[in-house]
Amino acid sequence: MILIIDFGSQYNQLIARRVRENKVYCVIEPPTIKVDAIRRLNPEGIILSGGPASIYEKGSPKINPAVFKLGIPILGICYGMQFMMAALGGTVKRAGRREYGFAELHIKRQSGVFKGLSKKTQCWMSHGDSIQRLPQGFTILGSTENTVVAAAANLNKHLVGLQFHPEVAHTPLGKKMLQNFLFGVCGCKKSWTMKSFAKEAIQEIRQRVADKKVILGLSGGVDSSVTAMLLHQSVHKQLTCIFVDNGLLRKNEAIKLKTTLKQHLNINIRFVNAAGRFLKALKNITDPEKKRKIIGRIFMDVFEAEARKIKNAEFLAQGTLYPDVIESVSAFGGPSSVIKSHHNVGGLPKKMKLKLIEPLRYLFKDEVRLLGKALGLPNDLVWRQPFPGPGLAVRILGEITPKRLRILRDVDDVLLEEIKDAGYYRKLWQSFAVLLPLKSVGVMGDERTYENIIAVRAVTSKDAMTADWAKLPHKLLGKISNRIINEVDGVNRVVYDISSKPPSTIEWE
Ligand code: XMP
Repeated sequence: MILIIDFGSQYNQLIARRVRENKVYCVIEPPTIKVDAIRRLNPEGIILSGGPASIYEKGSPKINPAVFKLGIPILGICYGMQFMMAALGGTVKRAGRREYGFAELHIKRQSGVFKGLSKKTQCWMSHGDSIQRLPQGFTILGSTENTVVAAAANLNKHLVGLQFHPEVAHTPLGKKMLQNFLFGVCGCKKSWTMKSFAKEAIQEIRQRVADKKVILGLSGGVDSSVTAMLLHQSVHKQLTCIFVDNGLLRKNEAIKLKTTLKQHLNINIRFVNAAGRFLKALKNITDPEKKRKIIGRIFMDVFEAEARKIKNAEFLAQGTLYPDVIESVSAFGGPSSVIKSHHNVGGLPKKMKLKLIEPLRYLFKDEVRLLGKALGLPNDLVWRQPFPGPGLAVRILGEITPKRLRILRDVDDVLLEEIKDAGYYRKLWQSFAVLLPLKSVGVMGDERTYENIIAVRAVTSKDAMTADWAKLPHKLLGKISNRIINEVDGVNRVVYDISSKPPSTIEWE
């Protein structure tokens, strides 16, 4: 295992990705971590990340310099390197100007992290301060035109510093350097697989939960389904999942979930049909924020009432992912867990005195899918596109009525079938239909029609923070439009949404 110390760099997640891509497990911790805690973690190596501060700044993040005496190999990147050099008796010079961008790295010693590399390569710099004098025992491994100490190491003690960023794509041989650190310097083994993760996670959950009961809010999405499967395999019937049918789901969604998770996989799920309550409260409501608030409030009420029926429950399990956790880790404080607000059960642990279990909190989305596969979840579930908590309510612009829900469900069903048939489902971040609050004139047979308009939305994205409209082939768009208008009563026009995020959003409301 590799321990990454977070000095606040925007590239921290990237460092973690690079390590895990090599099948080596890693965790990110704040610099306030105690040396004893590091000993207990017993990492093969430590990476000190970069960070926006200068080591001279008041309150700049610091780690106890005793880490350099643990005998564990350490790689310092940018700020991490400067901290290490200063802590070990070197000096760091405050530069007048930041050096930012590409630089040519001249490698002086092809050993350690530079083993097997050519003598010249590109690297990506982003720093203000530079190393002026090295601590005793350190030698320069590489320089650039502006930075004499671009890389330095104490080869005997396995302490390495890189002034540039090996984790970014702009340092083309950075991956190789990190591999050299992991396998050459630290002696890591490629042992991190989802099967091994699952095995350890199951053991940990069993230990923590013992004979107590666990509640889990199941949405049918990837994260909550994988969490449910993991908990199910750990504590079986001590787990109760609650699935709230809000009447705003896709066609046959609840039935499909029942068949897969309950009947085939035998997971203990309580289905609560609250559709009537939601639809009644949403009657005549057209304002998007009002819709969301009503749905959130009723969801919370229904979920809590059901959760209270499970006597003596001690834990609430949630599918919080690593990016949510890291976002809240500051270089100056500790990591704190963010409860996904869209799960709408944020206040519940406190209210019901439940303890949180978040077994996915160290995983990225694609790792969660792999874990789902390793646990035996079907492809259909594992490769699901995200679906918003408020469901079709934010895709029906204007009033939500049973008739309009029926139209959108039928349209959505056709659309997904075509997207899947054409092999686009996994390539797209999301693809869905929106029912507009407008009607337009058309002609069917010899008759004039005055019917609904559907907007088709398909986007590519990495994390939903930004998104681009998908350049779907015209032929596919034509087929989708034809089938929707021919097969779904009440629609006579289909348009394609060609806006990106920002300035638009993915959902229409
Ligand atoms: P926007 O529309 O803000 O959506 O670009 C970004 C991503 O979040 C999803 N989304 C939600 N997910 N509850 C959720 O669980 C919500 O209230 C919600 N609103 C938007 C959306 O589908 C997209 O993936």
